[in-house]
Amino acid sequence: MAKLTDETRASLRRRSRLVNLGRDAEFSQGFVNVPPFRGSTVLYPDVATLKGRAQRFTYGTRGTPSTEVLSSAWTDLTGAAGTVLLPSGLAAIVVALMTALSAGDHMLMTDSVYSPARAFANKTLKRMGIETTYYDPTIGAGVAALMRPNTRVVFAESPGSETLEVQDIPAIAEAAHGAGACVIMDNTWATPLFFPPHAHGVDMAIEAGTKYLSGHADLLLGLVSANAAWFERLHACVHLMAIPAGPEDVFLALRGLRTMDLRLREAERQALALAQWLAARPEVLRVIHPALPDHPGHKLWKRDFSGSSGLFSIVLKPASEAAVAAFLDGLELFGLGYSWGGYESLAVPVDCTATRTATRFAPGGPMVRFSVGLEDLDDLKEDLDKGFERLRTIG
Ligand SMILES: Cc1ncc(COP(=O)(O)O)c(C=O)c1O
Repeated sequence: MAKLTDETRASLRRRSRLVNLGRDAEFSQGFVNVPPFRGSTVLYPDVATLKGRAQRFTYGTRGTPSTEVLSSAWTDLTGAAGTVLLPSGLAAIVVALMTALSAGDHMLMTDSVYSPARAFANKTLKRMGIETTYYDPTIGAGVAALMRPNTRVVFAESPGSETLEVQDIPAIAEAAHGAGACVIMDNTWATPLFFPPHAHGVDMAIEAGTKYLSGHADLLLGLVSANAAWFERLHACVHLMAIPAGPEDVFLALRGLRTMDLRLREAERQALALAQWLAARPEVLRVIHPALPDHPGHKLWKRDFSGSSGLFSIVLKPASEAAVAAFLDGLELFGLGYSWGGYESLAVPVDCTATRTATRFAPGGPMVRFSVGLEDLDDLKEDLDKGFERLRTIG
């Protein structure tokens, strides 16, 4: 790392960038990794420096060597102008929204959005005089017809993390920018490795680093990367709120970055194989995975994405609640719990039928979402096989 010339650094391919980004020789003192920096107070050499805040680090909430190396690495990967780090993915969503919205504004939010983001819009933003209208995630350029004179944000999440609709982000961005609105996208599913958000017109991109950047279900982190039009405002907003990410989490995220490409590609391979196996099961009505040719958003996915992650859903043929519970409760390798993107496989029941307001979501049977981990695929299939047996028995 210390030996990399600027020219070589600029020409590195992705795998090499993941290995080398954020490895600052000044901070690591010869060790391979930058250690976690903890602290509130930063000392100044004299009053003039203190009054002018004329040094690289000024206070714990305003950045540390650890946060600086991770955010600069993320800025490089996303193709942004800058990145801020927050203590969770949901906090990243909140900060991006607080950056772009003011009282009296209107926001368009995809109907497929991560439900806690929807709750923030419906409760906190509403209380602050900001109105939200939900839109059909597959609307594409049609979002132009929903823009109002005070629409300041179009919020996208593609694919939706439960129902996996693929959004036409370039078309949405064109319509939003034409009306002077900011495009915020939750890019957690694809990560910048499979979807470079800013090259597709996104102004602020959210990543719940809790998922694939961590890869080990052992940290909470949110990242917001922003293009040049928005970074200064984002940076100012987050500093006024002072909600820094935890030093240990930042350190672990930087460690996760080194293997993210490997883990994500393996999750992709495993999830695709499992999705295909599930599609052939008699108990399954349909598999919802954007990389499968029968997915309604497959063409868009193929146009804009360079890979798929390990998160997808299935719709079971109609079955009782007790049968679905028996299917899930008895799984030995798939854990039952929220979040995703870890090394371990998870399965959760999902039901979006009651939350949607712009679109009707009627999948035709109970849904289950899988986050496929790194276990042996045959073991995962055997676990599910036994689950299907329980499902059939109860019916
Ligand atoms: C799509 C998506 N965005 C954001 C988040 C929030 O991340 P965190 O759990 O770090 O708050 C989640 C969490 O499940 C998610 O699925």
